Amino acid sequence: MGKVTVVNENVTFEVEDGERLLPFFKEHTAMLFGCEKGRCGICICTVLKGMENLNEKSQQEIAFLHSKNAYPGQRLACLLRIKHGEVEIEY
Ligand code: FES
Repeated sequence: MGKVTVVNENVTFEVEDGERLLPFFKEHTAMLFGCEKGRCGICICTVLKGMENLNEKSQQEIAFLHSKNAYPGQRLACLLRIKHGEVEIEY
């Protein structure tokens, strides 16, 4: 079981290991999504804690984030899956 906290909304939810976080973000937060496939960038977020508990970036995500001059701690929320443990993000 993983635990995700969206710090700027003070929202925490639990997810099964391996689950995609997108449906939980949509249900529990006001995060905005567009393409939901890592192509538009509207969902860019910052991982404050637990980056190691998330899925690895795909080559597509790495290339997209690089093209936007993203910081190392930034991810595309629509592509996130939790491996296990705790994660804190803000957007
Ligand atoms: S919703 Fe388009 S990149 Fe995440």
